[in-house]
Amino acid sequence: MSVKLSRRDFIKSGVGLSASAMLAGGTNFLDAGQVGRRMVVISSSNGLKATEKAMELLNQGSDALDAVIAGVNIVEDDPNDHSVGYGGLPNEEGVVELDASVMHGPTHNAGAVASLRKIKNPSKVARLVMERTAHVLLVGKGALKFAKAHGFKEENLLTDKAREIWLRRKEQLSDSDFWYPPKSETLSSELCSYVSSYGTINCCALDVNGNLSGVTTTSGYFYKIPGRVGDSPIIGAGLYVDNDIGAAGSTGLGEANLLTCASFMVVEFMRRGNSPEEACLKALERIGQKAKLWPGRSDENGFPRFGLNFYAINKKGEYGAACMWKGAHFAVHDGKENKLMDSAYLFKRK
Ligand code: GLY
Repeated sequence: MSVKLSRRDFIKSGVGLSASAMLAGGTNFLDAGQVGRRMVVISSSNGLKATEKAMELLNQGSDALDAVIAGVNIVEDDPNDHSVGYGGLPNEEGVVELDASVMHGPTHNAGAVASLRKIKNPSKVARLVMERTAHVLLVGKGALKFAKAHGFKEENLLTDKAREIWLRRKEQLSDSDFWYPPKSETLSSELCSYVSSYGTINCCALDVNGNLSGVTTTSGYFYKIPGRVGDSPIIGAGLYVDNDIGAAGSTGLGEANLLTCASFMVVEFMRRGNSPEEACLKALERIGQKAKLWPGRSDENGFPRFGLNFYAINKKGEYGAACMWKGAHFAVHDGKENKLMDSAYLFKRK
């Protein structure tokens, strides 16, 4: 595929000014006097219902963490979102394994679960890890036992649609095994869109008290190796909140975030004075550089082969999002309107 670095867009976006902006920004903290009472909820493009719900709760005085978890629960419960919770696409053995994290700004505490099976709301379990244990991350069977101890019911998360998508993939994968190609091609074009699918939902909010929190929840990479853990449950990678500065989260190829602690990086760029959008772009720029070192992750011209998105809010209620390749969107409720917006981008395809 032909790709092109959009130098003009790159500069326009502010990333090209990064060195001077960083020096000028220094390590300024946002002045507490600047903090307003503006409530904002930001999410990935599949999060329009989540932002709506979260803002409804914020308007009732909810803490940001309560609001964002209630928001993403709608998507976790939705069988038609194949990237999260119930209906999520499974690993290569046809088993749905979920990852999630939550981070609460006022207490600078977090909880997470990884490779959790049979529980459709991993974000709720992640919250309990934070609130009811002295740990941050529980995985696999331990996470499931913990969830059951708290009354969560085991459920089959693999919907018929997700199973069919998985089966087609399995049947199309190789002509050197004993599986014939699929008899029906009806799912083919839809399947194509899932072949390297790593959808997720992130949602961060600023509440009426000026407190920030966030959540990221996912079924991870479709057809992943069982036990693979992505960035979503890793604090600093798929989610990070510093209540003095801002909140950031991510969707897209988790491995890129795991290798760069990129949500943490976004918050640190905001600490240095960058706007949320600039901070997201600068993290993407750094990842784009590193991607050249990762086998198979960049093309012959050194451009990243993967999609990655960041979403960020600062303490003032300013928000922004950016993606590696032009074309992504994000959901935001700014207190007045709930809408999808275009993400800023680092590169665009010709
Ligand atoms: N960002 C989601 C994942 O890679 O699992």
